[in-house]
Amino acid sequence: MPFNVFVTRHLTQDAEEKLNAFCNAEYWPETTPPSYEVLLEKTRSVDGLVCLLTDPVDREIIRQAKNLKVISQVAVGVDNIDLAAAADYGIPVGHTPDLLTDATADLAFALILAGARRLSEAIDYASDGHWKTWELTNLLGEDVYGATLGIIGMGRIGQAVARRARGFNMRILYHSRSRAAEAESALGVIYVSLDELLTQSDIVSLHVPLNDATQTLIGASQFELMRSHAVLVNTARGAVVDTNALVAALKTGQIGFAVLDVTDPEPLPHTHELYKLPNAIILPHIGSATRSARNQIALLAVENLIAGLEGRPLPKPVNLPKH
Ligand code: DGY
Repeated sequence: MPFNVFVTRHLTQDAEEKLNAFCNAEYWPETTPPSYEVLLEKTRSVDGLVCLLTDPVDREIIRQAKNLKVISQVAVGVDNIDLAAAADYGIPVGHTPDLLTDATADLAFALILAGARRLSEAIDYASDGHWKTWELTNLLGEDVYGATLGIIGMGRIGQAVARRARGFNMRILYHSRSRAAEAESALGVIYVSLDELLTQSDIVSLHVPLNDATQTLIGASQFELMRSHAVLVNTARGAVVDTNALVAALKTGQIGFAVLDVTDPEPLPHTHELYKLPNAIILPHIGSATRSARNQIALLAVENLIAGLEGRPLPKPVNLPKH
């Protein structure tokens, strides 16, 4: 077999069958990522790399990988890959948009409901033996139906969340790098400045990629603008939120609740203060974790990889920075 490929974790059975039929693939056998040194060492000699969002594919790794023809990420977000370095060395990068849009939007909506209706506290309350009777004013949350939802990032997933929000009769504000004219007419979403969105929304849901412009986009000054009952939902990337500022905002009641599928750092150490706050829910980055979505993204990652190895355009390329 002509091509050698390093895969930083096992994929789904379908994806591995497809990959193994095409090339000689070595799979990192653990469920935790290979160390940086292992990643560097393995990538140095291969023709193709299939990686996950946990693998830091930096300039040094790319520089030393003299045979590398393609990097294929099994995710839509590619903030773990040095795209400028990939561009400098002429290596195409593939990713897996579209196929996980609905799974991630479904989870975002589940988190919106979970935060607004204090589900984690209610579950603990019942299972910890506090449920003695029905109480009129116990565990009161916020309305979701008819509330104002602020979506930051009106790309594929932001729009999919907006579609769900329409079923809940929500007023949908959005802020994005650029105007989403189609979404405005099709979904009735209203473009506002970031400050306006934060000031007016009952629920704020984040759907931006992580890059220099979005790193800690939500920090102390943004929390100051938010409503005291507001629910913050993050299914994007942890570092879009300043974690220390979030802890302070939750503790002082500057905002009402945070529901995070992504954290900074990730994984969030199990001793972290956020786990102890009653008004925070932390999930282990499961946005796209449906059987179907994960199988489809693994298959697409293999298709991107094969195209790159064969010197064809990738089905789903990442736009690399221009020189
Ligand atoms: C992505 O694809 O970037 C998600 O965060 C994981 O599915």
